Parts: sequence; structure tokens; C-alpha cells
Amino acid sequence: MRRPFVAGNWKMHGSRAENAQLLDGLVQGLPAQASADIAVCPPFVYLWETARVLKSSAIGVGAQSVCAESIGAFTGEVAASMLKDVGCTYVIVGHSERRAIYREDDALVARKFLASQSQGLIPILCVGETLEEREQGHTTEVVSRQLAAVLDVAGISALDTAVVAYEPVWAIGTGKTATPEQAQEVHAHIRGEVARRDAKIAAELRIVYGGSVKAANAREIFAKPDVDGGLIGGASLKADEFLKICAAAQAH
Ligand code: PGA
Repeated sequence: MRRPFVAGNWKMHGSRAENAQLLDGLVQGLPAQASADIAVCPPFVYLWETARVLKSSAIGVGAQSVCAESIGAFTGEVAASMLKDVGCTYVIVGHSERRAIYREDDALVARKFLASQSQGLIPILCVGETLEEREQGHTTEVVSRQLAAVLDVAGISALDTAVVAYEPVWAIGTGKTATPEQAQEVHAHIRGEVARRDAKIAAELRIVYGGSVKAANAREIFAKPDVDGGLIGGASLKADEFLKICAAAQAH
């Protein structure tokens, strides 16, 4: 039985005051015996404070990106060891905004994945197709390529300590959610790809969905057999809304 996972990707939102309010709402509202792993991923500068506030809670902390290099002259970058040092458990790698806006390619994503795991961080590996790729019938091919780029260098056993997030690019921040059937189809494909390499790892791998998930649609998406939770953007910025999504994941 896979334990559901829900992470809030705050992206470039928040302030010390807003974060304090949001985190207080989450800590107060999350049941003590949560049957899902919950995490928040604030911008780098707020990680330390967030980890401090959440220290005695069941909510984990993740970063939104990481440098592929371990240390040195890389102005503006943040190393995996530093994320670990300030209390992170998770790190998002390969988010479509990083791939599209900052030109991160499959090879760089794979290196970031390796850098994260080398420090004991759990990567949340994002994969997903653009609208154009979907319309041309290339969805599974794109997702397979993005996945293989990591597995070919990290090896299949790397997925023992990782989460995969399927995030169709056309559904991110657009209000257009994939239907539960569309999500299930791609999640099953991803699990199948992993199973071709290792059936046990595939059965235990958590594959979460991201792209305009909100309280109103979370339950039906999470109900699908291969959907193990969500990576939540906009809807993770309001405590009530995010808590409802976490509750929807725990119901399965
Ligand atoms: P969204 O973002 O929920 O705002 O669509 C999801 C994500 O980009 O992780």
C-alpha cells in the first residue's frame, strides 16, 4: 500500500508574514495522525525559517530546485548539502517552469536528481508534456524520455527514494486540470515503464499528479489507482484549501 504524498509548491510567492500565517494554519489544521506525507516547498530564502517552524510537526520541507554541482564558484546557486543543512527533506527537480524558462534539459535534470540523492534528499521528479506534444500524440513518448534520462544515469533503484510527479504543462496554473482518466492513463504508463525495469520498485513508487489541483477536484483525481497524491501550486497558498486537498489524499 503506497502512502499518499502531497506537496505544496509555493513557487515565487510569499513573505515572512504571509508564510507565518500559512504555516500556522497548516500546523493547526493538520490532524496529528495524518495518513499521508505532507510537505511544503517555499522559495530558498524561506526554507530555514519554514523548517524551524515545522520542526515538531509532521509536515516536511522541500526546495523548488537545486544546483547540480556540489560546491564552488556558482554564483546564485544553492547546493543540495545546503538544503539538507537547513532542514529540507525533499527537492523538486525538473519542474516544467525550470525546463521551459530556465532551459534545464533532461541531462541537467538528471544531474540535479543525483546531486539531491547524494545528500539524502528525496527528489520529486517532474515530468509532463506540453499541449502541442499532447495534440500530436506524443504524451507517453515525452514522459518516457524524461523518465529514462534520469533512470539511465541514476539506475532504477534510485526510485526507491524518490517521488515522480506527472504534471502536464498545459494544466499548470491554467485552471485546466487533466481529467482523472487522462491522469490515470499517464500514471499507469509511467508505472509500466518503471515496471519494465523493476516490478517491485514500480509497485511502491509514488506517482503524484500536478496541474490545477484544487479542493474541488482533488478527490476524484486521487481516487484513480495509480495516482498517489499531488503536487499543488496555487491552491497550496491558502491553508484551508491545501488542508482539504491533503484530506482528499488521505481518504484513499
Ligand atoms: P498549479 O501548479 O497547481 O498552480 O497548476 C502546479 C505545479 O506547477 O506544481
